[in-house]
Amino acid sequence: MTTAETRHIRILGIETSCDETSAAVVEHNGSAFSIKSLVILSQDVHALFGGVVPEIASRQHLTALPPVVRAALNEARCSIGDCDAIAVTHAPGLVGALLVGVHFGKALGLTANVPVLPVHHLEGHLFATALEHSDAVPPFTALLVSGGHTLLLDVPEWGVYELLGRTRDDAAGEAFDKVAKLLGLPYPGGRPLEELARTGESGRHRFSRPMLRRSQQPSDADYYDLSFSGLKTAVLLAVRAAEGEGRIDAERAHIARGFQDAVLDTLVTKTVRAATAYNRQRIVLGGGVACNQALQQAMLAAAQQEQMQLYSPAPRLATDNAAMIAAAGAFRFRTGELVDPGFSAHASLPVPGMRNAEPSRKSSRATTSR
Ligand code: KG4
Ligand code: ZN
Repeated sequence: MTTAETRHIRILGIETSCDETSAAVVEHNGSAFSIKSLVILSQDVHALFGGVVPEIASRQHLTALPPVVRAALNEARCSIGDCDAIAVTHAPGLVGALLVGVHFGKALGLTANVPVLPVHHLEGHLFATALEHSDAVPPFTALLVSGGHTLLLDVPEWGVYELLGRTRDDAAGEAFDKVAKLLGLPYPGGRPLEELARTGESGRHRFSRPMLRRSQQPSDADYYDLSFSGLKTAVLLAVRAAEGEGRIDAERAHIARGFQDAVLDTLVTKTVRAATAYNRQRIVLGGGVACNQALQQAMLAAAQQEQMQLYSPAPRLATDNAAMIAAAGAFRFRTGELVDPGFSAHASLPVPGMRNAEPSRKSSRATTSR
């Protein structure tokens, strides 16, 4: 490693891709991260509308971002001039919300003569666990499960992301949110649904596991892919049937449990399949759904059975936050790659370094049954 690679660096991260306004100061000493501050302001107003309203999100970022950044710098006891770079989420997300962060970051960088780096939000989620677990580094299998994305990746090294599977329809978090709504729970519904499912009986409502069959072969297009919309419809039918019988209050928790069991079973099986096929000893979770304790427990049990290590992010790092953006920014800063200062915000953009896995590679050590 060169001196530049091992030099202690300090990055200010900015995240405004959805409904969290966040800023953080993160240091990296060449081998481990240290979070000096992390401020997250969640825009609770969206709960009134049952989902994120883009225009409101942008306006709230505009008001909240300057004090949030100031608070992050104060808490880290540093000024912007003490930072080596500013890392700002520029994609994917709500474009108006992203623009607030991008322009604020650029203006700040310009006034303090500090370089500004664009960071892909999903690369940020991949770095989140490494902030607190120095062993959560490549090579690993990653499962990213958030409100907007569901990806299964092989990560041989930072910056190289092989896409193995993704959802064909709803993201996992989106499915939790929609099913929660069907069950009369508030938005965002992931956490309340998990709490309700805790009191439900397993197996009372057994929903079929989406895109999961014993006969699946590694060469099948759906071997690693996921899908949640059929499951959502199955839940809707169960809710209607229970309502028709006047038993919905008695069945709600059992239906929630049945839904969660089906989602978890699918996520765990496909993740362990991927780790086995690629001969990985580590599994890293990311995204808001990674907060789900039942998912963490089920994944841990399956990983231990295969002598694999599981790394899960702490809740504040699993959901959207600027520390993960700063961490990914530290990696990008160290690569020394040139940044186009005219970079802008994008609603969607591929993760830098992401490629589709070769189907033949998948079959190398893949198991054909669950
Ligand atoms: O990563 P995140 O903060 O935002 C996106 O980038 O989308 O994820 C938010 C998602 C929401 O859909 C929320 O319902 C879900 O994560 N979530 C959970 C849990 N906590 C948050 N889903 C299941 N169980 C949880 N405990
Ligand atoms: Zn996210």
